[in-house]
Amino acid sequence: MANKVSVGLLGFGTVGSGVAAIVQQHQQDLLHKLGTEVSIDKVLVKDITKKRDTGLPPDVFTAELDEVIGDASIDIVVEVMGGIEEAKQAIEQSLRAGKQVVTANKDVMALYGHELLQLADTEKQDLFYEASVAGGIPIIRTLEDGLASDRISNLMGIVNGTTNFILTKMKQENMSYEDALAEATALGFAEADPTADVGGLDAARKMVILSSLAYSTEVSLEDVLVRGMDEIRDGDVELASRIGYTIKMVGASQTDEDGIEVVSEPVFLPDAHPLASVNNEFNAVYIHGAAVGETMLYGPGAGSLPTATSVVADVIAACRNLLLEVNGKRQHAPQHERAIKPPDKQIAKYFHRLSVDDEVGVLTKVTAVYSGRGASLASVIQHPGEEEGKAELLLVTHRISRQQHLDITKDLEGLASMISHYRIAGEESV
Ligand code: NAP
Ligand code: HSE
Repeated sequence: MANKVSVGLLGFGTVGSGVAAIVQQHQQDLLHKLGTEVSIDKVLVKDITKKRDTGLPPDVFTAELDEVIGDASIDIVVEVMGGIEEAKQAIEQSLRAGKQVVTANKDVMALYGHELLQLADTEKQDLFYEASVAGGIPIIRTLEDGLASDRISNLMGIVNGTTNFILTKMKQENMSYEDALAEATALGFAEADPTADVGGLDAARKMVILSSLAYSTEVSLEDVLVRGMDEIRDGDVELASRIGYTIKMVGASQTDEDGIEVVSEPVFLPDAHPLASVNNEFNAVYIHGAAVGETMLYGPGAGSLPTATSVVADVIAACRNLLLEVNGKRQHAPQHERAIKPPDKQIAKYFHRLSVDDEVGVLTKVTAVYSGRGASLASVIQHPGEEEGKAELLLVTHRISRQQHLDITKDLEGLASMISHYRIAGEESV
């Protein structure tokens, strides 16, 4: 490597432009930290004619991937173009061409991370992906290095900035779902197609990445229970608040002798839980380790400069490994076989919101369904339903299995309709 490190950027959108800005503005710091200059020498974009305020020479821009990857002087390829198959191929080609690679792409890492990390090992290169989860929070490095000495038993995080932003705006400013989503999109938090954000898939992908690392195993996307924002019904936020809970879209996973359980879903969190006060596009990840106990990382989960900070931190790590000639020496092989917990071993308290006919004996019949499945109830509240002749029952169970929750839901058919249901999470932490 010469007296500068040469970077090829794949993508110059929200994240890519932030990466260029940080590299340009922090040049002296990079020189001090690395002892060498870092220079962005090629940038791949889709539309070469688009007007861009870049601070880079116009001739670094290209629409041809080969002009970046095929350029022998490029040391590090930074993939921030998004998408799945094309991005995956670009990462593979870069590794095979002997480049260090940095990506912010959780979609690719969740689906192909294990395969790509193995390819990086084979090619004696590194693949860094800090920005793929929780934007500006150094969560990957915390799991890989900071907590490497510990045994992690569970993780719970707000790992999607868009849905947290929407829920905050709806709760605090009474904004409509549509307006809040439009604002999250305008601010660059939401994906180009926000379906994965609001449907819980984006957070599920991030939990695949975090859980695989935390438990040193191969978690796949199909192992994750995914429920989106559409499961949150009108009135739920206020009802939760009335009994001391806040609804948050979380990703959570935990492991014990029965296996691993990974979910991405809206949950009830006690108002006093630290995650309940994480608002707007901010993310936070709550970790429980056998030795450390509870610890939480908090910070911006999306946006141009916060995400670019993580990307550039990876560029620095890639440069250091190159300069020290230790690239491709990291251990990625998982330690444990994949074991997913069956539903009868997934234990939680549940909140059920039911609509029933407002008539004598209905409460007895409903509670009999719960006791028939061995589930005891912590509280039952009845209030008038929106429809004439209907009542709503708000039930909180004691700890039951997910299988019991599913069985109860089925048994209630014909007697009550389940308006919404949530797991109650995090009570042990308040
Ligand atoms: P973006 O704003 O849509 O930018 C994508 C960039 O890639 C654009 O410059 C686009 O070119 C270029 N591009 C896309 N497809 C291409 C193709 N086939 N060939 C050549 N160039 C192509 O996306 P972003 O928000 O920066 O996100 C980039 C990645 O970072 C994604 O994987 C995303 O999930 C991840 N991420 C984003 C955030 C965030 O807050 N936005 C946070 C963490 C991680 P044009 O400019 O010509 O259209
Ligand atoms: N759309 C993602 C979010 C971007 O809202 O969290 C960061 O991964």
